[in-house]
Amino acid sequence: MSIKFIEERNLFVIQTNNTEYAFQIVHGRFPVHLYYGAKEGAEYEDYKSWVVSFAPYYREHHLSYVPDTAMLEYSGYDSGDYRASSLKIRNKNGDCATFVDYRSYRIFSGRLELPGLPYADADDKTETLELTLWDKLTKAEVKLYYTVFPEEDVISRYVAITNCSEDKMVIEKCMSLTLDLPTHDYDMISLHGRHYMERMYQRVPLHHGLQSIFSRRGASSHQHNPFFALCSHDANEEEGNVYGFNFVYSGSFADEVEVCQIGRTRIQVGLGEENFSWHLEGGETFISPEAVMTFTDHGIGQMSRNFHKFVRDHILPPEPFEKRPVVLNTWEACYFKIDEKEMLRFADTAAECGTDMLVMDDGWFGQRESDWLALGDWYESKEKFPNGLKAFIDKVKERGIKFGIWVEPEMISKASDLHDAHPDWCLHCKDRERMESRQQLVLDMGNPEVVQYLKDIFSKTFDGCAIDYFKWDMNRNISQAGSAILPPERQGEVYYRYMLGVYELYRWFKEKFPNAMIENCAGGGGRYDLGMMKYSTMIWTSDNTVPHHRIKIQYSSMLAYPAATMSCHVANHQNSCEDPRQLKYGWEIAMGGALGYELHLPNASNTVRETVKRQIEDYRKYESLILRGDYYSLLNPFETNYSAYYYTDGKDFLLSFLQCDVDTENEIILPIAKADPSAQYLETTTGKTYSGAELIAGISAFSSNSNCNSQIWHFVLLN
Ligand code: DGJ
Repeated sequence: MSIKFIEERNLFVIQTNNTEYAFQIVHGRFPVHLYYGAKEGAEYEDYKSWVVSFAPYYREHHLSYVPDTAMLEYSGYDSGDYRASSLKIRNKNGDCATFVDYRSYRIFSGRLELPGLPYADADDKTETLELTLWDKLTKAEVKLYYTVFPEEDVISRYVAITNCSEDKMVIEKCMSLTLDLPTHDYDMISLHGRHYMERMYQRVPLHHGLQSIFSRRGASSHQHNPFFALCSHDANEEEGNVYGFNFVYSGSFADEVEVCQIGRTRIQVGLGEENFSWHLEGGETFISPEAVMTFTDHGIGQMSRNFHKFVRDHILPPEPFEKRPVVLNTWEACYFKIDEKEMLRFADTAAECGTDMLVMDDGWFGQRESDWLALGDWYESKEKFPNGLKAFIDKVKERGIKFGIWVEPEMISKASDLHDAHPDWCLHCKDRERMESRQQLVLDMGNPEVVQYLKDIFSKTFDGCAIDYFKWDMNRNISQAGSAILPPERQGEVYYRYMLGVYELYRWFKEKFPNAMIENCAGGGGRYDLGMMKYSTMIWTSDNTVPHHRIKIQYSSMLAYPAATMSCHVANHQNSCEDPRQLKYGWEIAMGGALGYELHLPNASNTVRETVKRQIEDYRKYESLILRGDYYSLLNPFETNYSAYYYTDGKDFLLSFLQCDVDTENEIILPIAKADPSAQYLETTTGKTYSGAELIAGISAFSSNSNCNSQIWHFVLLN
């Protein structure tokens, strides 16, 4: 049993393999947090109030319970707690005072579904605590869910709010996770960025006041990834206390971290309040997306490994193929200039070089000659594919490779048949100018007619086509988020309804094309989140394929997401790929994740094509370590000029050393602490043998004045 209720102390205790979480019901009414940390040696006392002047209290309990300083499991707006609130409901009287008291609990094995939303799959060890809270005035019932994944040391949180009255209520803020910690002795690690430079690592100490990362863009965004961590100031890869948080959602969000007047820290993950409100009629229930948290006292690396395992085992869809395909994608090689003849040249070369799949990117449909045109017109261009899509795909398949195709279902070009027919199907505010980005508008995915149109047109166009893979793109953020089908008072629901429509279409794709895999993309990694990972096996990491920039982007992505999700191509935006040093460097970086190519291989020299073939053969030898092994980072490229890491399955090791920029010549020691000191290892690229003790002491790498210096070592256990 992972979850216990200890009646004498009114105490709930949740345990994972290595962590413990505890809270107590004070005065039979208030769920007060006591502890989240290591299981071993866990100790916590019953709640004692911390009295501060000016803080409101209940006359009945006087100063024995002070909401403004108590560590709370969930906090109502305007309820005497002045920290960022978890829940704000506007009631029929027009005020937003939100008081929810404990009512009952239920513990059960497994978990509940979150209708319409992505959520983590349960296994036979999963258990859930449902804690029911209740506002006796408004008759709002609030259920807090704690779902436990013991093996991964992960606990997930979400809430369900039911209006049990006959009056309308409006939810104006609803956070999925609230966690109060007793101190603020932490650094915050988060991943900021922009298009072309996603997920840049940042580590700063917490300060008094609110520090927040968020997206108001309708996508989880290039600018702030929903993942963040709080770690002790001395935490490094192997040591120190680390709390990690993430959100199983792909739209606008807010992660709030607030250090309060007495130095405690409130942590929240949820929809935030700027892009969200929800009308709840009598009898209706609103369910928030799921947030997840993990704790370890074994450093940042262990937090990452907890999340990696959790994503692999509970989030990602099943792998549709025996081997993850190494793809040849046409985008950087062709942009919009594609047609059947050219694509068949690509298919020939893809097969010759040993790639597993041709992915035909943007440009195949409607009048799509440039990014000004045709989004929404999802039928093949007759000029480019005179024999039709099916006949073309059959010819690709005759080459013995798989076939993937690009789509951007959520978008609409002004210059498209779809826009001519349905100008009001795009998000817009009544009577206002419609702002474009990349010359495109955004479809109102909260409108069931729009989603149905997309299902119909894709069914028709792809009927009989043997498609193995969709690259699902999304190339702008939402603005003027108005919907033609919602009444004025419900316009605040558009962002959330949009995501529900997107998820519905994702689920439809998965059902309609059960053998196909989806690669998610949002102008690169603009939706690199757990919501997307529920449906897409991997995510296009960034449109930036410049190798030394990729080192940093991939390092940061690996803090929260496993390598299996990280789509990495050797690519060069139509520049020459003939420099063998660059080809090796690009490959040694890209092979840190799911390898692919985006080069014009049909026009490349034989030498390049042979090199690519060899690279893919080598990648196949390391692939299972990369995609399924444990990841240990040795050097942080935001603190040094290098990234170094190894993957291991507990037996073999793949070690990488990647230099970011030109450097002086230095020896850098890379210790493989997980090697077995009494074992012997064969390094397969050189044929040299090493003892485990030598690996633990460290392998020598050398920095250099080259602008593409990198090396890999593959150690195979001999005895
Ligand atoms: C943005 C993506 O990130 C690129 O890889 C490519 O698919 C283009 N869109 C196509 O328009």
